[in-house]
Amino acid sequence: MTEAVIRAEDVAMRFGTNTVFQDVSFEVRRGEIFVILGGSGCGKSTLLKLLIGLMPPSAGRIAVLEEEIARLAGQARRDLLRRIGVMWQSGALLGSLNLLENVMLPIEAHTALPDDARALVAGSKLGLVGLGDATTRLPAEISGGMVKRAGIARAMALDPEILFLDEPSAGLDPITSAGLDELILSLARETGTTFVVVTHELQSILAIGDRCIMLDKEARGMIAEGDPKRLKEESTHPTVRAFFHREAL
Ligand SMILES: Nc1ncnc2c1ncn2[C@@H]1O[C@H](COP(=O)(O)OP(=O)(O)OP(=O)(O)O)[C@@H](O)[C@H]1O
Ligand SMILES: [Mg+2]
Repeated sequence: MTEAVIRAEDVAMRFGTNTVFQDVSFEVRRGEIFVILGGSGCGKSTLLKLLIGLMPPSAGRIAVLEEEIARLAGQARRDLLRRIGVMWQSGALLGSLNLLENVMLPIEAHTALPDDARALVAGSKLGLVGLGDATTRLPAEISGGMVKRAGIARAMALDPEILFLDEPSAGLDPITSAGLDELILSLARETGTTFVVVTHELQSILAIGDRCIMLDKEARGMIAEGDPKRLKEESTHPTVRAFFHREAL
């Protein structure tokens, strides 16, 4: 069986008296595209924050690349974070820097490469996401889809083993969104990077997801796990069925 790069065991997250989810257990395997899905407010972004160690879970354990991320500090934590990449919902590029300079940022922060080598690496990542001709453009001069691509290039700057994407297709038209799905699929195949993608876009989930988990606000936890295409055909859970068949509950 393929190696697990993330293991979550009995994870719970509470804010005060509000339990967002509990008893969440799953594995992410190396090289797969793993999707975290569910309706608004079910805790997708919260789970993503736990997975990248932005905050510790209220209960349970999360191991990322064999390390319990919530327990790491200092250099050990920096070493682990260097092996993962994150793209937040907005793409979060710096507006005053061109695309090449934006992608060079993490390379500057984490390596001692000379300037021209950094530019070479950053340029190759932009090429990988189809922006090889746009390296000198500012974020304000490119489309929303291009911002997402540049955000992915920056998240990949240090060749992460796991790439986390929060709602990559949010705010994109269906055609641009489908193009982004194609990009994620080809990056996963060509680079072997593991992807963890948070989304509630049904088309995307079915197009790119090898496996998924579905969180639910009312259940305060996971209500499904597996291949999204099979869940769509086979799940008997009313909320899971409603989601995959776009029906009202
Ligand atoms: N820092 C926080 N403090 C208190 N409550 C929080 C905090 N972060 C998230 N929550 C609560 O956790 C719940 C889940 O929020 P989260 O942002 O994870 O949902 P989501 O599934 O990502 O939703 P969306 O699809 O709208 O992005 C919400 O009820 C939210 O109010
Ligand atoms: Mg969210």
